[in-house]
Amino acid sequence: MASRGLPRALRCARVAAPRSVLSSALPRPALAKAAAAAVPRMTINQQPIRGLKQITFADSTETVYEREDWPREKLQEFFKNDTLALIGYGSQGHGQGLNLRDQGLNVIVGVRKDGASWKEAVQDGWVPGKNLFDVDTAVEKGTVVMNLLSDAAQSETWPALKPKITKGKTLYFSHGFSPVFKDLTKVDVPEDVDVILVAPKGSGRTVRTLFREGRGINSSIAVFQDVTGQAKEKAIAMGVAVGSGYLYETTFQKEVYSDLYGERGCLMGGIHGMFLAQYEVLRERGHSPSEAFNETVEEATQSLYPLIGGNGMDWMYAACSTTARRGAIDWSSRFRDNLKPLFNELYDRVQDGTETQRSLDYNSQKDYREKYEKEMQEIRDLEIWRAGKAVRSLRPENQK
Ligand SMILES: NC(=O)c1ccc[n+]([C@@H]2O[C@H](COP(=O)([O-])OP(=O)(O)OC[C@H]3O[C@@H](n4cnc5c(N)ncnc54)[C@H](OP(=O)(O)O)[C@@H]3O)[C@@H](O)[C@H]2O)c1
Repeated sequence: MASRGLPRALRCARVAAPRSVLSSALPRPALAKAAAAAVPRMTINQQPIRGLKQITFADSTETVYEREDWPREKLQEFFKNDTLALIGYGSQGHGQGLNLRDQGLNVIVGVRKDGASWKEAVQDGWVPGKNLFDVDTAVEKGTVVMNLLSDAAQSETWPALKPKITKGKTLYFSHGFSPVFKDLTKVDVPEDVDVILVAPKGSGRTVRTLFREGRGINSSIAVFQDVTGQAKEKAIAMGVAVGSGYLYETTFQKEVYSDLYGERGCLMGGIHGMFLAQYEVLRERGHSPSEAFNETVEEATQSLYPLIGGNGMDWMYAACSTTARRGAIDWSSRFRDNLKPLFNELYDRVQDGTETQRSLDYNSQKDYREKYEKEMQEIRDLEIWRAGKAVRSLRPENQK
C-alpha cells in the first residue's frame, strides 16, 4: 500500500516542503526506502469481532476499539433508557455535546445561567427548559453525568453535585484530574456508581470537526470504578458516541499524568518555549522578523510537521536535503540530552500534584478568564506572533 501511494505522497512532500530543506532529486532507492519506512512498525491483527483490533508495539499488546463496531442504531439502542447530562460547555462540552445530539441520543446540557457558556449553548441550538438547564437540574435529570466543567470548577462544585449523583447513575470524566488527585480536588466519587473516562486526544473543536468529516478523533478510555460490571462497555460506547474513531485503553492515573505532562511539554508549553528561544536568537543575530518567523514556525507548521504527522519522522527526514538531515540527526541528540532533565522535573511536578495545585489555585479565581485573556494578549503582542500574523496575511486564502 505504501509503495503504491509513494509517488503521489512524495510529490506532496516536495510541494509542501520549502526549497531550503528539500533535496532537489531524491534517488529512487531512497524513495523506496522512505516508503517502506513509512509503514508503521506495528502489527495489526484483525479480530473476529468487527471494529476491534490488537496492536503490538514493541513488548506490549494493546486492544484498540473502533467506532465501526458501534453504528448509530446500536448506540441508540444501548443508551435508549439514558439521559446524558453534559455539565459544562467549554471546548469539550461543545464538541462532545453536538456530536451526541447528531447521533440522535437523549442529551441535555447543564451550565450556569449567567455564564458565557449558556449564551454559546443557546447559539448552538440548545433550548432552555428543553435540553438546556442549570447545572443542578441537569445533574438531577441525568443518568450519565458527564462532568465537563473546567477541572477547577469540578472541584469547586463537587460538594453540591455529589449528593445528586445517586446509585445507578454513571459518572463520566474527560480527564483523570479530579478523582486521581482527590486529596487536592476533594472529588471523592460515590461508591455506588460506575466511574468512566473518555479523554479525546485533542481540543473539543477537533472532536467536532473530525466527527463531521466522518473520521473521529483518537481517545483514551478508562474505568475508575466498576459497580455494574458494565463500566468498560459503557466507556467504549460513550467514546464512540461523543465522536471518537479509535479508543485506546488506559487508567485514570496514567491518563492524567501523561496529559498534564504532554501539554506542558511538546504539545504546547515546550514547543512554544522552543519557538521563542530559536526566534529570539535569530533576531538577536540580525535576522529580519519574517526570516526568523519563517525559519521557526511557518516551515514547521506548514511543511515539516504535517509530514511527521502523515508518515513519521523518518519520512520527514527523507523529504529533506542531505545537509538538513545530517544536522538534524546530530542536533536531535543534543536537544534530547539537554531537555531530558527538564522533562523529568516536569513529570515529578505532575506526579507530586504541584501542577494540579497550581491549576486549581489559578483557575478557581473569580477573574480567571480576565487574567487568562491578559496573558493571551501578551502572547499576541510578542513580535514573533505579530510577524506570524503578517506572514499569514499573505496567504492566498487571506488575500480577499
Ligand atoms: N480542551 C481540551 O482540549 C480538552 C481535551 C481533553 C480533555 N479535556 C477535559 O475536558 C474537561 C472540560 O474541559 P474544557 O476545555 O471543555 O472546558 P474548560 O474551558 O476547562 O471549562 C469550561 C466550562 O466550565 C464552566 N465553569 C467554570 N467555572 C465554573 C463554576 N465555578 N461553576 C460552574 N461552571 C463553571 C464554564 O462555564 P462558564 O462559561 O459559565 O464560565 C464552562 O462551561 C476538563 O476535564 C478537561 O481537562 C479538555
